Amino acid sequence: MDIENRQDRTEPVKAVLERARSVLILTGAGISAESGVPTFRGGGGAAVWRGMPFEQLSSAEMVEQNLPLVWEWFDYRRGVVKGCEPNAGHLAIAEAQQSGRFEEFTLVTQNIDGLHRVAGSQDAIELHGDIHKAKCLSCGSLQALDDVGDDERPPVCSECFDSMRPHVVLFGEALDEDALLKAYERAAACDVCIVVGTSAQVYPAMHVPEIAKREGAFLIEVNLEETPLTPKADVSLFGKAGEILPLLLRTENEDR
Ligand code: OAD
Repeated sequence: MDIENRQDRTEPVKAVLERARSVLILTGAGISAESGVPTFRGGGGAAVWRGMPFEQLSSAEMVEQNLPLVWEWFDYRRGVVKGCEPNAGHLAIAEAQQSGRFEEFTLVTQNIDGLHRVAGSQDAIELHGDIHKAKCLSCGSLQALDDVGDDERPPVCSECFDSMRPHVVLFGEALDEDALLKAYERAAACDVCIVVGTSAQVYPAMHVPEIAKREGAFLIEVNLEETPLTPKADVSLFGKAGEILPLLLRTENEDR
């Protein structure tokens, strides 16, 4: 789709946004694809590392069976993210929040790459954790990996001296309840919910747009392709997040 066609499709949606008081954006791996972070599914292909699918590596079982291997996998992923910078999609979201044009603005992400923070977004609800942090297996205290260093794997907790694990929600584990409840509350109260770059297959994150829709929000999807959310969305905009979000979120004054 060329840029003019995209503008034609985004203009009516922009009008909905102009009337919105409370906006919630939920992002998935697709928003970071243009920054060079591989996705899990969809256009990015399945993630397999050393012959093992990511579901097996990123699992609660693997933490028990082979914690050093889990660290190797997440150190590898952190290495991938290290060279990546936020793209126009991350920046458009950060600018929409900073502009203060919406009374309430909530960013919920399934991503663990920290690129929203680097782009300038504040108070993002990180449903699946943060790859840049370690968490103690015993006392649960969190530490930034920049402070912990790369030498010791698993790292040792500075509070209780037990082993630490990556601060990431793994397959077979529950999400942080406070984060999830906050996301649900904001979803129930928003007027417009924009879901960007997620295959819409992983729960409970996908309850967020479902709650928003059920409570009357206008649901917009931005993705390269159709997802299970497409039939529920009021509008689906197919294309790259880094191209669509600036068109959608920038106001006339900001358009460049
Ligand atoms: P997926 O990898 O499942 O889906 C990525 C989606 O992004 C696909 O639907 C693609 O079509 C879309 N996409 C790719 N490039 C895009 C682009 N440039 N612009 C717009 N869309 C694009 O990622 P998630 O849905 O985020 O959990 O996966 C959910 C969770 O599954 C992840 O958070 C991860 C994994 O298990 C944890 O790590 C805990």
